[in-house]
Amino acid sequence: MAPLIAVYDLVKTYGEGPACVHALRRVTLTIERGEFVALTGASGSGESTLLYVLGCLAKPSAGRYLFGGRDITTFSAEELAHLRNHDIGFVFQGFHLLTRTSALENVELPMLYGPTMSAGERRARATEALVSVGLGDRLTHEPNQMSGGQQQRVAIARALVNRPSLLLADEPTGNLDSRTSLEIIEIIQRLNTGAGLTVVLVTHEPDIAQYARRIISFRDGRVIADRPVPHPQSAETDLRRLPLEDLEHSA
Ligand SMILES: Nc1ncnc2c1ncn2[C@@H]1O[C@H](COP(=O)(O)OP(=O)(O)OP(=O)(O)O)[C@@H](O)[C@H]1O
Ligand SMILES: [Mg+2]
Repeated sequence: MAPLIAVYDLVKTYGEGPACVHALRRVTLTIERGEFVALTGASGSGESTLLYVLGCLAKPSAGRYLFGGRDITTFSAEELAHLRNHDIGFVFQGFHLLTRTSALENVELPMLYGPTMSAGERRARATEALVSVGLGDRLTHEPNQMSGGQQQRVAIARALVNRPSLLLADEPTGNLDSRTSLEIIEIIQRLNTGAGLTVVLVTHEPDIAQYARRIISFRDGRVIADRPVPHPQSAETDLRRLPLEDLEHSA
């Protein structure tokens, strides 16, 4: 089977002339189904740009991008929108939830753009997604009534509700304390090992990268290292080992 992601000589530049920024300089890599990859690098190295190109939120300036063997550079805007909505889930550092909108309604949103689904079915699937991230008791809460970790869990539920094959996460724990970060990584690890979801996660935190099964490092828009993590950390185990005082402190 073709790899889920294959990019060849991917180039992304912003602007023109002297102001031109080379965000990606001929990046070539493949990611198989079921992998959990961390992208790391100093600020400005191009990881977010790569994530946005992989998520079809940004168009590459040059190079090829095959998703499941299909060359998406030839896709129409409609085909791209379909791919983005059905095959790819996105999670951001800043959650990007709609304010004054309940958790349920936030999670239902991606289903409004899909095939026609009854309101009842949308509600049932959103509820199921929120329960799966441990938010069964927060269905009608709005983002400002939830902690950062809870908001990020709503964002994960929203990213997964259309059952994508790829989860892209841009510094999903960047705004969270260490326990909450671990809780988010535990969910992502469970989705990866349990449900076989392919995960590509950008992080600046070396500790967080150790939960992935492969780390790709960037510098100045280029891949400078690509290595497996022989024994990835288990977030579930590490959470259990956190001292209890820490839990009381964060509660
Ligand atoms: N829309 C844009 N217009 C112009 N330049 C941009 C744009 N987006 C990103 N860049 C530039 O492209 C380079 C790569 O940006 P990118 O956001 O991919 O880096 P990053 O490694 O994710 O950074 P950070 O770690 O700070 O999030 C940077 O030099 C950035 O300033
Ligand atoms: Mg970034």
